[in-house]
Amino acid sequence: MTDILTVLGIESSCDDTAAGVVRGQPGRVGEILSNVVWDQSQLHGAFGGVVPEIAARAHAEKLDLAVEAALREAGLGLADVDAIAVTAGPGLIGGVLSGVMCAKGLAAGTGKPLLAVNHLAGHALTPRLTDAVAFPYLLLLVSGGHCQFLRVEDWDRFTRLGGTIDDAPGEAFDKTAKLLGLGYPGGPLVEAEAVSGDPARFSLPRPLLDRDGCDMSFSGLKTALKRQRDALVTPEGGLHRADRADLCAGFQRAVVEVLAEKSRRALAAAGPVSAFAVAGGVAANGSIRAALEDIAGAAGTTLVSPPLKLCTDNGAMIAWAGLEALAAGHVSDPGFVARPRWPLDHRAAPMIGSGKKGAKA
Ligand code: KG4
Ligand code: ZN
Repeated sequence: MTDILTVLGIESSCDDTAAGVVRGQPGRVGEILSNVVWDQSQLHGAFGGVVPEIAARAHAEKLDLAVEAALREAGLGLADVDAIAVTAGPGLIGGVLSGVMCAKGLAAGTGKPLLAVNHLAGHALTPRLTDAVAFPYLLLLVSGGHCQFLRVEDWDRFTRLGGTIDDAPGEAFDKTAKLLGLGYPGGPLVEAEAVSGDPARFSLPRPLLDRDGCDMSFSGLKTALKRQRDALVTPEGGLHRADRADLCAGFQRAVVEVLAEKSRRALAAAGPVSAFAVAGGVAANGSIRAALEDIAGAAGTTLVSPPLKLCTDNGAMIAWAGLEALAAGHVSDPGFVARPRWPLDHRAAPMIGSGKKGAKA
């Protein structure tokens, strides 16, 4: 039995400046002592996406304050933590560097061990923090920047079963919302519009469903939607409310069907697993969640879906991934470098393209 460990986690790979403290041991639900997340979206809103330089500067300005706030909320000092974990990639390199330098400074000043955490491992291990899910389990990571199926076999062993070859679904929701004059972030707005829409009115593609395996593609769906929109706008001079609702419903139905069928295949390919876990902002979508619950049930397993604030980028998930590594006797060499790309599964072919929220790993 390993000891109870306390780890500080730092996250700055995209547009959230985050720090959190968790306590616990692998195999048991962890205790989140604090989880401070400072969203930068106000800084980037005018640009319609994350501006890496602005993000990096804002992280550098705020990281030490976020760490201070996280320790204060946890009622601890730096001397009380067993280690400092930090996202060392993948992500926007300026932001990752800010976090790594902050963590290295804290470690040098206190003599605490450092843990270089893969951001995706942070997401992938969150179901163990929240629900003590046993290895192996299947994870669908689905957000504005990520979309992949991972068979999580150990704290440092992941098999990638498939993923998007272009946009992530959240990105497609956001672009759809933009095309239809809705706001940002688009996911919840498209979902709300879809409630009163007819999903069968427009014929939209189900990309890559005809191809074997678990890879996905969402950029063609967005283009098809744009064509349907333009075909309405040209003769009518604009969109009626019903048109917009029908387009949203059709788009959402297409995403649901693709994710459901690819999840069914991923579960079949994964073999016996203790659970099907889903993480990422898109998991907030009620229709997607319901479809994944059905797929999990049909495969004889259950859907585990951590609370949304732990599914999106945060410091507690990085602290937990560090805690699992530390419990396994691992500590990083203090000379480790920040990495813009860092696939979890080294055997998998690299993904092409990069998303609105940074490089796809
Ligand atoms: O995980 P997240 O907060 O950030 C990263 O991408 O890392 O995910 C944000 C994404 C956005 O693209 C947003 O539009 C999408 O999740 N999203 C949703 C819903 N809520 C958030 N997509 C579909 N339906 C929703 N209800
Ligand atoms: Zn993320």
